[in-house]
Amino acid sequence: MLNAPRLDGTDPFAATVRSITEPDPVHAALRAAGPLVQVDAPAGGPAWIVTDNDLAREVFADPLISKDPAFAPLCWDPRTAGLEQTAAEQPSLTTLEGSEHADLRHAHAPLLSARRIGEQSDRIHAIARKLLTELAADRTEVDLMAGFTTRFPLTVLLDLLGIPLDHLDEAADACRLMLSGRPDAQGSAISALSRLAAAGLGEDCRGLAAELRDRVPAHTTQEQLQYHLFALIFAGQLTTDAALGTLIAYALADGPHPDPVGGASVDELVRETLRRHPPAPFSLWRFTTTEIELAGTRLPARAPVLVDIRGINTDPARSPGPDLAFGAGPHYCIGARLAQLELRAVATVLRTDFPDARLILPLTELRQASIGGLQGSRLTALPVTLHG
Ligand code: HEM
Repeated sequence: MLNAPRLDGTDPFAATVRSITEPDPVHAALRAAGPLVQVDAPAGGPAWIVTDNDLAREVFADPLISKDPAFAPLCWDPRTAGLEQTAAEQPSLTTLEGSEHADLRHAHAPLLSARRIGEQSDRIHAIARKLLTELAADRTEVDLMAGFTTRFPLTVLLDLLGIPLDHLDEAADACRLMLSGRPDAQGSAISALSRLAAAGLGEDCRGLAAELRDRVPAHTTQEQLQYHLFALIFAGQLTTDAALGTLIAYALADGPHPDPVGGASVDELVRETLRRHPPAPFSLWRFTTTEIELAGTRLPARAPVLVDIRGINTDPARSPGPDLAFGAGPHYCIGARLAQLELRAVATVLRTDFPDARLILPLTELRQASIGGLQGSRLTALPVTLHG
């Protein structure tokens, strides 16, 4: 039996700020170390990171590896480890497993299917057009990270869920609070988003929130339903916000730069942006429910395991085929169709309605910052002119 190699001298969970075009050395270092690499977990003790595509897909599908924080190492303090409550305390798509997870997926899936999301295409393009036109009318130069990338996915989500848009600022504040790093922030932000989700559940509401209410398992309480809606809003905003920054930066990059993505078709631009800059660079935490063997290493029960999504997606030896930007297996991103449509809509509207739009700064001067942990990075600013 082997021991997985350790990654020493590099902290994969450190906060960073670097140029958007600068490769992230952590993922190359992890990949070079082996298919399964032992690191120090931010919450204490060892953790294992999977850097190999086939092994990652095994881990994503393995019923002995659970996302339920009930299996987290006993030494982890759930308040500082950034974990959700256990599935028993607060059932959610991200923490339930097995048949309970399948039942909840079954309730959500038709609402976010390719057909249902496709029917929203005109509406989502119209939201992108309206928000960008308003920004273009007001100013010659605009920072799209401040004025657009948060508001656009939130507007789309609230609109789809049937939550009145006068809650938009409240929702944006809660999403920002969630990432503020303040000790009480997560609880307050979850309460705020769960509370405003209730605005989509009134008797006369006709959005996806009301439809979900009618589809969730019968034992679901109102508080649990509101948490499911919080999860959709938060998971859908955070990731798409970051992805939009990178996508727009590459779409508008002025003049020659070392990146071929700029001249690509909209679909290719979206696919390549997500492959190379996945907004979730790591999967969420998973934990072994029993002792298991992984890549020849014996892991104890309660071992924390992560998949290095960005490292696998950018592996030069990677075979063609689907990447891991949206995960894989039973927890594959339920909002993938919506996210892809949102990104395509923005790239298309920029090309058709703002053909002269460009970055104010060279691409290489755009900085992306990560607060560390499992969080992906987000551009610190995206100054553009929409009129050329
Ligand atoms: C570019 C945008 C997005 C990316 C890159 C992304 C990525 C991911 C990934 C990697 C996972 C799996 C995590 C794991 O298994 O550890 C996931 C799950 C999930 N995503 Fe997304 N996501 C995006 C947008 C969205 C949107 C728009 C929504 C909501 C409408 C959403 C809702 C969810 C939910 C609820 C889960 C949990 C699914 C489950 O565990 O069954 N995501 N996402």
